[in-house]
Amino acid sequence: MTRSSSCLISFLTISLFFTTCFSFPKLHVTITNTLPGPDPPLILHCKSKDNDLGIHTVLLNQSYDWSFRMNLIGSTLFSCDFVWGKQHAGFVVFSKDIAKKLHNGEFMYQARGDGFYFNVNGDWQKVQDWSWSY
Ligand SMILES: *[C@@H]1O[C@H](CO)[C@@H](O)[C@H](O)[C@H]1NC(C)=O
Repeated sequence: MTRSSSCLISFLTISLFFTTCFSFPKLHVTITNTLPGPDPPLILHCKSKDNDLGIHTVLLNQSYDWSFRMNLIGSTLFSCDFVWGKQHAGFVVFSKDIAKKLHNGEFMYQARGDGFYFNVNGDWQKVQDWSWSY
């Protein structure tokens, strides 16, 4: 066997070992519109460095959600921009630091009239205010 092909085989074996033994569990972010009324709806745009999830309209009492895995170096970060009529907000919804607060891989947010709430093991904690756009 040539040196380069044995290198390739070692590399593939090690890659398989890492992806099967060290791949992170699936994580799930859910953002629910619990605003005070149906109009205006919630508009959101979430993205990571590698993955733009696009712009979505979320009606009252409905949710937008997605699943992903943390990358191997743990640098995965998702942020979202939100518009609700003349108000807007933007913040990081998933990072390694946010993941430390939870154990179950479920990252749940509610958009309410006074801002955004994050579910920490059953408790809804306010994490972000709305700002006015002019
Ligand atoms: C949304 O949910 C609230 C609280 O459960 C409920 O009072 C309201 O009727 C719902 N509205 C719609 C349009 O589903």
